[in-house]
Amino acid sequence: MSETGSHENVSDDDNLPERPDSQADAQGAVEKKADNPFADPGLPPHEHRIQDIDERAAKRSERTVALMFALSMLATIGFIASYVAIDIDEIIYVWPLGHISALNFALGLTLGVALFLIGAGAVHWARTLMSDVEMVDERHQVAAEPVVEEKVKADFLQGAKESGFGRRKLIRNTMFGAVALVPLSGVVLLRDTGPMPGDKLAKTLWRKGKLLVNENTNQPLRPEDIAVGSLTFARPEGLEHDDENFNNEIAKAALMIVRLEPGDIKDKKELDWSHEGIVAYSKICTHVGCPVSLYEQQTHHVLCPCHQSTFDLADGARVLFGPAGHPLPQLKISVNKEGYLQALGDFEEPVGPAYWERPR
Ligand code: FES
Repeated sequence: MSETGSHENVSDDDNLPERPDSQADAQGAVEKKADNPFADPGLPPHEHRIQDIDERAAKRSERTVALMFALSMLATIGFIASYVAIDIDEIIYVWPLGHISALNFALGLTLGVALFLIGAGAVHWARTLMSDVEMVDERHQVAAEPVVEEKVKADFLQGAKESGFGRRKLIRNTMFGAVALVPLSGVVLLRDTGPMPGDKLAKTLWRKGKLLVNENTNQPLRPEDIAVGSLTFARPEGLEHDDENFNNEIAKAALMIVRLEPGDIKDKKELDWSHEGIVAYSKICTHVGCPVSLYEQQTHHVLCPCHQSTFDLADGARVLFGPAGHPLPQLKISVNKEGYLQALGDFEEPVGPAYWERPR
């Protein structure tokens, strides 16, 4: 049984393929057909294309292919220009689609043209310039023998040679350009992943003078409200539960307040930033951001329930155990003239998971 495939009967490098031996076999098969109507009819005589026998026609095809690749490049540039220049709200009428987004139309059209021209250029190249010699290869067992592997390699190299990939530099270079430019379309679309966060992750609502409001009672806290050994949760004054951005803001500003004996505080900075032993720490775990909530009164340790990171609140919220990489950030507090606990500024480092190596 015969099938088309690679074979040593291929053309030489001058675009004028030799008549393959299989053709002679084919004619032999035709002669035998008179005796056996089911005999393999073989291949019809090979017909040379115009490009095989006319170098000017081959050059014309080469220029056509190069033109398609070059136009693909222009279309990709048009895609990027459309993305930058066309207003997202602009609507246009396009028959028969009706009223549609000008930006979507331009992006779809330019990207479609860019991809189509790469495909069309490759097909035209293969149909007009690459070798089209008919070949016959006998079916054989699937497992390749070493000699077959060698033959495949040789066929591949010969195919590469016949395609003119090395010789037709104009096509090759424009194709590389077109294929290299197309992915840029995807790169510019990354802009749609949203605005950059700016300093939103680094800043919270805490400001100098903001009162610490008890999360349970909604009342500003006074030092006398915080008993030794208790754990109190607080939020910034002015942030209400029905605020549109409540969840985003509380996720950064949630505070955990504990009163320690000042003599138990080992870290000098922690003592300086406290008020009469009352310390305020971010409630957001520095591992992956769970709310830290389990307080051990005797040891002054707080535990994150997610992965058991343990922080020592008597020692600058140092990590004692678990995967957290940083201490909990501390908020500097004092008492205002009216006797309420207030912040003396924002946290000095980003709260929550360490998304960059912040200063310690
Ligand atoms: S989020 Fe706290 S230990 Fe993982």
